[in-house]
Amino acid sequence: VIEDHFDIAYELEDTLRSRSKGGALKLLEAIRPMPGTTSFTRQQEPLGLGHAIWCARDIIGDEPFAILLPDMLMKSEPGCLSQMVEVYNERGGNVISVEEVPDDQTHNYGIVEVDGDVSAKTFSITGMVEKPAPGTAPTNLFINGRYILQPKIFELLENQETGAGGEIQLTDAMLALMGLEPFTGLRFEGETYDCGSKSGFLAANIAYALEDEELASELRPLLSAMLNT
Ligand code: G1P
Repeated sequence: VIEDHFDIAYELEDTLRSRSKGGALKLLEAIRPMPGTTSFTRQQEPLGLGHAIWCARDIIGDEPFAILLPDMLMKSEPGCLSQMVEVYNERGGNVISVEEVPDDQTHNYGIVEVDGDVSAKTFSITGMVEKPAPGTAPTNLFINGRYILQPKIFELLENQETGAGGEIQLTDAMLALMGLEPFTGLRFEGETYDCGSKSGFLAANIAYALEDEELASELRPLLSAMLNT
C-alpha cells in the first residue's frame, strides 16, 4: 500500500486529467519520489522493531544510516534529523534523539541513561532500557524515534534475543553496540506527536491542519465552538 501510494496511480491521474483537475494532479506529481529513489523491504512477521530494521540490511549495506519512526511526527526548525546530522558530523559514532517524558509514561518508551548533565543539549549515553517497569526508569529521557546508527548494528540484531513485549528490540541491540562504539544523545527541541496513541494522532492532525492557512481559517471557529460547549 505504501509503495503504491508513492507510485503513479494511472486510473486516478487519468480521471483527474479528463476532468481538468490540474491542481490535484500537480499536487500528486509534487510528492512523487523520482524514479529509482526508493527501495522497500518486507517484514514478513511482526517480530519487533529490531527485526524490522534488520530486514533492511541488504538495502543499507556497510554504511551509517538514519532511522525515522514514522508514527512519531516531529516539528522543528531545523528538523530533528538535520540537528542530529550536525552532531554526527562533529562526533561520529551513533546519535539518537531524546526528549523528556512525564514519570507516568516512561514505561511506554525506550529510556536512556546519560553521563553528566541531564539538561545539556548533547550528552554521552551510558545505558538504555526498553519500556522499563513503572518507577524503574533511570531518567525521564525517552528515545523519540530518530536514530543515526553504524552498520555494526545488523550483526547484533542478527543474534538479538527477544526482549520487552516478546519482541526483538532495537534498544537491546543498541545497548550491545554501546559496548563497542560511542552513543551521543541529542535533546530534541520542538514538538513531537506520538501517533501511536489515539490522542497523539488526533493532536497531530489538528496541529498540522492549523499550519495550513486555508484549513486553519475553517478549523479554528469549529474547534473553539467545540471547546466552548
Ligand atoms: C519504539 C522503540 C522505543 C521508542 C519508541 C518511540 O517503540 O522501541 O524505544 O521509544 O518506538 O516511539 P514502539 O513505539 O514501537 O513500541
